Amino acid sequence: MGAGKSTLGPELAERLGRSFVSVDEVVEERTGASVAELFAVRGEAAFRELEERAALDVLARRPLSVIELGGGGLGSATTRERLEESAFTLHLETTPEEAWERVASSGRPLARDRGQFQALFDERRALYESAAGSARNLDGAVLAAAGVHVSGGAIDRVGELVPGEGTVELVADEHVETLLGQRVRDALGARVTGSHVVPAGERAKSVAVAERLWSALRAGRSGMIVALGGGSTLDVGGFVAATYLRGVPWAPIPTTLLAQVDAGIGGKTAIDLPEGKNLVGAFHWPARTVVDPEVLATLPAAEVENGRAEMVKTGLLAGEPLWELEITEQVRRCAAFKSAICLRDPHDHGERAQLNLGHTFAHALETASGYSMSHGHAVALGLLAALRVSGLEGDARLVDELLRPPLARVDREDAWAALARDKKGDGRRPTLVLLEAPGKPRIGVELELQVVRAALDSLIA
Ligand SMILES: NC(=O)c1ccc[n+]([C@@H]2O[C@H](COP(=O)([O-])OP(=O)(O)OC[C@H]3O[C@@H](n4cnc5c(N)ncnc54)[C@H](O)[C@@H]3O)[C@@H](O)[C@H]2O)c1
Ligand SMILES: [Zn+2]
Repeated sequence: MGAGKSTLGPELAERLGRSFVSVDEVVEERTGASVAELFAVRGEAAFRELEERAALDVLARRPLSVIELGGGGLGSATTRERLEESAFTLHLETTPEEAWERVASSGRPLARDRGQFQALFDERRALYESAAGSARNLDGAVLAAAGVHVSGGAIDRVGELVPGEGTVELVADEHVETLLGQRVRDALGARVTGSHVVPAGERAKSVAVAERLWSALRAGRSGMIVALGGGSTLDVGGFVAATYLRGVPWAPIPTTLLAQVDAGIGGKTAIDLPEGKNLVGAFHWPARTVVDPEVLATLPAAEVENGRAEMVKTGLLAGEPLWELEITEQVRRCAAFKSAICLRDPHDHGERAQLNLGHTFAHALETASGYSMSHGHAVALGLLAALRVSGLEGDARLVDELLRPPLARVDREDAWAALARDKKGDGRRPTLVLLEAPGKPRIGVELELQVVRAALDSLIA
């Protein structure tokens, strides 16, 4: 009570593309009386019954809404059981002081006396804290719903953060294994029953590495895979988790900036074939993603550049200068932004495509360079082209100043041929993600070929 649910609830519903339902309002509509009147006339016990019936009805609806349930509603064991079965329960954290301030003058039946209010708060605290997730604000709520935890030092607390008590097998790239492997094993303790090392970088994403992992794993269905590393390790580790025993739970611990703001979020996993990147994969949402921005301290400059390009992309999509924030906040905001999009469109049927802003150009340049160009460099240039064809010259200049990408040294014809073949197109004209303005993406835009070609050419030395 007084945590701010009625303000945050509708905002969260909008971020997640769901409807919002308040159980109190359902009761009020059904009875034609306010909660205060029901308490006064029929008494609390009668209200709790009405509340329970309304909560169970709302929880039976599909698709699930964002549901506001008063703290007292958790007093019902039936409601708690149903919540556990069919919903994700988020505890909106507050202090008794903050909560009292919000409700003191509200006239709510259980908020008339400060002492009683405190007693009730203390009494219910354990129930609140048993919720599956907790948050203080909107981004926190989105992250909790997506299973993403972001905090400095989190890597030493993975034991608490990775859910369940089952066994864990760790998959780490050879380099990250020496940097962080032991810390993660120490934090997970006796749960760790196996450790597997994969090559660093894109080479990990091969059928051969996946096959080696499948054969080496000993986890049963209740076991879990923890993948520790950059996007390459997470992609192969997640793919193996998605396929081993027809799917075991997994928890990525992204250790590059790119993986913390992008690859570690959203449940896409993949390996490469000789025919192309990411051609075999699965959607497999992590049980928990543990993001610790402090582990970025050892990241080489070129890897930081990769992540910064995606971070700037996210800022453009969100319409906010995320690059001005301090690093933990940057990571948190990017992770929350991508989480919300992926929760709205988990299987990439629609709006998730916006995350490809700049990527049609970027992929063409990477291909034409024979993959000698870094992804971040290509994305930085791709963003410039996407902004220019969007008519946002000012934003293009800003991105140029932020990322300073040198022009690409590739063959123009090769790049153009690669762009025309991009698998994200529909075989006819390339489709692009443009911005009407920062924060307002448009997906699936077809432009005149010569406009696209000119924009691509402008990126090449
Ligand atoms: N699944 C998705 O949604 C998604 C999204 C974007 C990108 N990706 C994939 O991610 C891959 C790229 O991942 P990446 O850019 O994170 O790089 P990466 O995993 O290839 O790692 C790059 C290098 O950084 C090193 N490294 C990692 N963490 C480090 C640390 N904390 N300190 C020092 N060195 C560290 C690694 O050992 C490696 O040498 C690509 O294969 C791409 O397709 C996937
Ligand atoms: Zn990218």
